[in-house]
Amino acid sequence: MDLGGWLRSLGLGQYEVAFRENAIGFDVLHELTDQDLEKLGVLLGDRRRLLRAIATLNNSASPPAAPAAPPVIAAVELAPTPAAAPPRTPLSTEAAGERRYLTVLFCDSVGSTGIAAKLDAEEWRDLVGAYLDAASAAVTEMGGHVTKKLGDGLLALFGYPVAQENDAERAARAALAIQRALAELNRRNAGSGKPELAARIGLDTGPAVLDAAGEIYGDVANVAARVQALAEPGSVLITARVQRQVAGLFVAEERGAQTFKGVPEPTALYRLVRASGGGRRSGQRNLTPLAGRDEEIALLLRRWERVRQGEGQLVLVSGEPGIGKSRLIEEFHARLRDTPHTWAEWTCSQLLQNTPFHPIAEWGRQRFGGTDVPAEQRLADLESSLAQAKLDPTEYAPLLAPMLDIPLPKERALALAAEELRRRQLTATTNWAIAGARTQPVVLALEDAHWADPTTLDALRGIAERGALAPLFVLITARPEFKPPWGMRSHHSTVSLRRLIERRFSTSSASLRLTTRCRRTWSMASLSGPAACRCSWKKSLGSCSSAVSKAGSRRSHRPCSNH
Ligand SMILES: Nc1ncnc2c1ncn2[C@@H]1O[C@H](COP(=O)(O)OP(=O)(O)OP(=O)(O)O)[C@@H](O)[C@H]1O
Ligand SMILES: [Mg+2]
Repeated sequence: MDLGGWLRSLGLGQYEVAFRENAIGFDVLHELTDQDLEKLGVLLGDRRRLLRAIATLNNSASPPAAPAAPPVIAAVELAPTPAAAPPRTPLSTEAAGERRYLTVLFCDSVGSTGIAAKLDAEEWRDLVGAYLDAASAAVTEMGGHVTKKLGDGLLALFGYPVAQENDAERAARAALAIQRALAELNRRNAGSGKPELAARIGLDTGPAVLDAAGEIYGDVANVAARVQALAEPGSVLITARVQRQVAGLFVAEERGAQTFKGVPEPTALYRLVRASGGGRRSGQRNLTPLAGRDEEIALLLRRWERVRQGEGQLVLVSGEPGIGKSRLIEEFHARLRDTPHTWAEWTCSQLLQNTPFHPIAEWGRQRFGGTDVPAEQRLADLESSLAQAKLDPTEYAPLLAPMLDIPLPKERALALAAEELRRRQLTATTNWAIAGARTQPVVLALEDAHWADPTTLDALRGIAERGALAPLFVLITARPEFKPPWGMRSHHSTVSLRRLIERRFSTSSASLRLTTRCRRTWSMASLSGPAACRCSWKKSLGSCSSAVSKAGSRRSHRPCSNH
């Protein structure tokens, strides 16, 4: 059926001429918005009829063939106001009737119709194929599941088929990785005459039901699609529900609130700028009051004094999940507020244990900016910080820039064998850390070393071995299974964190004993897995907080808002 025939079958044949004169075919039908239709002179009621019909068309198993068109996009992306039926996105039939908590990532390219019109069908297919392959790889690498490629976009789920504690974080990282991959693709294509591609990405999280036919029911996919449509080209927009789960892990800008069908309250939206590189603690959150850890903090402060005298130190903080390693570092950090220092944080990720230098690249994006900052500017920034540390930028920048995810001009890339390049990069990293510390004392906090990739561990080994030569404090957190790949030196120490239940502890301004209830909760928590342990820890402290409060602590004693 041709488009005219289809319009006539809907009783809307009067618009056939307007559609033809504006070169509208099946290939762009799915992109038409209410405003577009209005410009074409379609009356309000007919606009609703048309949008509903387009949605049905895209939902149907055998839509009319569109000549040399990108594949059909799912209904969830289409209607500016959702059709009566909830979004239906096929999944595997294994998921029959399951209720799930999902994070949905919806990605679509911008202005594809105009771009497609300038290319022949094969060129367009290659261009979109390269972008979708890169996007799918980013999703898969983060443990997501690409449910559907939608022409020049995709729909991915996190939390399916297996739900994990950090699904929202994975989805957010995947979204940023897609934007990075697209920027890289455009960079590679620059000068080849191929047009640039840009994508919008939207994320939402919430409950959904997967039915016997493997379709997804629930507002979450629908909202993700709407959020995507509101994103600026090249950006990632997330709902407050996602933001609450990733607070502190990303730099996010507020983008006002929107009302979505099926969601009673307006939803606040945030643009994800980049990973913060600072770990969860850099976000704003209400922490439970610090309990105990006086001795450990005192030890760290003593080591820090030595560092300030020019004697580099390394402290490995070891302990089981949720015991308080990160919190200890955070408390130590808070106590440095009035001392000039540089705080650099490398955070290892369970998901990226095979990505070379991942924590360093993430820190680099935080320090020098991500793809939102022009590459030349990031390189110039790197060169100027090298010069400040009295290192030769011409020698060091080509070694360090690739580790920091800063693109180098072709003529500056080093033509070295991979092994030699790696060796020089490791030396350059150690030299940079030491030289930087000589300018101003540096704390290098490496979080979750048990997940470090081998190259990051190599870099750390170099710093651990030569770090005594400068005011450099290397602070490492790790779970007990981590075995440092370096020998103990006189400037190294280990702090093994024990559970607080076993002893009396005090806050900085008040002493208290854990109440029986807290003690019971904490003991039970310690018998459960890490997540339960963490949760109960907060709960137990939440129930303790009034006791601390009465004792006169000046801290805020609200239990953590994440719970
Ligand atoms: N001494 C403490 N006083 C109050 N709250 C604490 C204390 N130690 C830890 N917590 C709280 O317990 C939770 C878990 O602590 P934290 O994240 O530091 O654990 P972790 O050892 O770093 O775990 P992981 O190995 O998973 O990284 C956090 O909410 C933290 O604020
Ligand atoms: Mg931690």
